[in-house]
Amino acid sequence: MAALGLAEHPLGSRPPAFSHTVVTRNIVYEDLNGARRLFGGRLMEWIDEAAGICSRRHCGMQVTTASVDTLTFKRPAHLNDIVIIEADVTYVGRTSLEVRVESFVEDLPTGERALMNKAYLTEVCVDDAGRPTVVPWGLELTSEEERREWEDAKKRIVFRKTREGEGF
Ligand SMILES: CC(C)(COP(=O)(O)OP(=O)(O)OC[C@H]1O[C@@H](n2cnc3c(N)ncnc32)[C@H](O)[C@@H]1OP(=O)(O)O)[C@@H](O)C(=O)NCCC(=O)NCCS
Repeated sequence: MAALGLAEHPLGSRPPAFSHTVVTRNIVYEDLNGARRLFGGRLMEWIDEAAGICSRRHCGMQVTTASVDTLTFKRPAHLNDIVIIEADVTYVGRTSLEVRVESFVEDLPTGERALMNKAYLTEVCVDDAGRPTVVPWGLELTSEEERREWEDAKKRIVFRKTREGEGF
């Protein structure tokens, strides 16, 4: 999939900072699994929620989640831990956009953050009938890191297409 020029996004472009999203949660009993750790399904819900808010902010319209990849649980979280979930748009295609979501556990009292999970989600802009529709805003890249993510996103798209071709 080729990167698209501004002309195909009728309203211009927005930087990732415009839609940067931070969701903060405190782990309560209902969030735990049988091993008294944060239930992975709950974290996935929070990740999906953060990506949905972030992509809706970028698009200014409704989105739906098409895919989630690289869900790797690097460390556990426990009762009363503070979890911070940060979402940023990394790539904008024709009707879809990629959102990176990083989840951290925050230590008290130091405030240091440990990465718990990093995921990339593909969100698709949809109209009232649920049909894919053009993302009105392109992505304005403002830093080297954002440009690198954009280039890496193109590789991830190829990888996803390959996996799709293999029946995943
Ligand atoms: C996502 C959905 C709208 C895509 O519809 P579709 O008819 O396959 O649309 P298209 O083939 O035209 O693809 C639209 C865009 O989505 C992307 N896309 C579609 N399926 C994808 C997938 N599995 N992974 C990543 N991107 C995907 C396409 O690459 C395309 O992007 P582009 O326009 O930027 O190039 C449709 O599959 C759907 O409604 N799925 C259910 C979504 C849902 O309910 N999510 C909630 C989770 S339960």
